[in-house]
Amino acid sequence: MWSTLVFLLVAQLSWTTAEESCAASGAPLNSAFVFVKPHANTPATREMVVDKLSKAGLTILSQSEINGVEIDEKSLIDQHYFSIASKATILSADKIPVPNEKFEAFFGESYSSVLKDNRAFNALEACKQFGCTPIELNDAWREAEKADKVVKLGGGFYCGLLSVNGKPELYVFNAFFMSMRSKFVGEENSIQGYEVQWDPSVLSWASFRSDVLGPTDPSKAKRGSIRRAVLDNYKNLGLSSKPNNSDNGVHASASPFEGLAEKANWLGVKPQDDPFGKALLGAGIAKKKLNQWFKDPQVKLTESTSGSLFDDLEDLDAAECLQRLIELSKLNH
Ligand SMILES: *[C@@H]1O[C@H](CO)[C@@H](O)[C@H](O)[C@H]1NC(C)=O
Repeated sequence: MWSTLVFLLVAQLSWTTAEESCAASGAPLNSAFVFVKPHANTPATREMVVDKLSKAGLTILSQSEINGVEIDEKSLIDQHYFSIASKATILSADKIPVPNEKFEAFFGESYSSVLKDNRAFNALEACKQFGCTPIELNDAWREAEKADKVVKLGGGFYCGLLSVNGKPELYVFNAFFMSMRSKFVGEENSIQGYEVQWDPSVLSWASFRSDVLGPTDPSKAKRGSIRRAVLDNYKNLGLSSKPNNSDNGVHASASPFEGLAEKANWLGVKPQDDPFGKALLGAGIAKKKLNQWFKDPQVKLTESTSGSLFDDLEDLDAAECLQRLIELSKLNH
């Protein structure tokens, strides 16, 4: 009986030391990937970001600079924005999952007839069709938006009817991605990445995003948040233009699962080497499934509804996120 007890104690002790993922309470820790975007990647911004993350009680596990040449060659930004990029640079128009009803309700013709006439293209193909640059395509997209010729078909999934260089109008998907991408690639661009970790009982994921990071629109960000600080001090930080909705200084994962996906993409982290990844594998979710899920697919959220996986997990803390992923894997086996 004593030997069993001693064994249990030893097992318990070695488990606690080996399992860094577990706080004193036994709940898994939150971990995210944060990066300073290329337009804001100056020494002063980096210093401010490190200071604010540390003061908020986050541990910075690693830091890395990733250059735009590597981002381009490894398609890191395309993978990062996979659900947007898949419709802009990866899938051809006939493979893009266009919801017919929404398309026809907005444009007044069916997507199948458009496909038959070869009048729909992803953004990359559209540049070739029009014989234009990504910037020109982006300008035409902005014009189409003003003329109410762009429709939202899903999360990060848009279609516009537009023309460049006086050519006949074409249906184009997610054209705005081309100029987003151009901000991340090339020798002169880079991001500064931070792998961070913290205890959810001290700071919830929701509060990490709203109070430490700040919302997407930096003008709506609270004082003290990183995005607010980038907006208020952009000249002193060495930025060349005023931050806005897309150039908002920093990115951070929206959930522990997105954190794992982003660490896998940007840092090459393997699920089996990551505490949250290990917990998912340990719960019986296969590695192949994880790799599919890293692309933010549409999944069954209940028996009768489906939607974006990443949206469903947004702002959950590690323990709740793990539970929800186990539920989702049962629904989507
Ligand atoms: C944000 O500012 C940049 C730099 O001035 C500009 O290129 C971009 O179009 C702006 N984006 C939005 C959404 O206003």
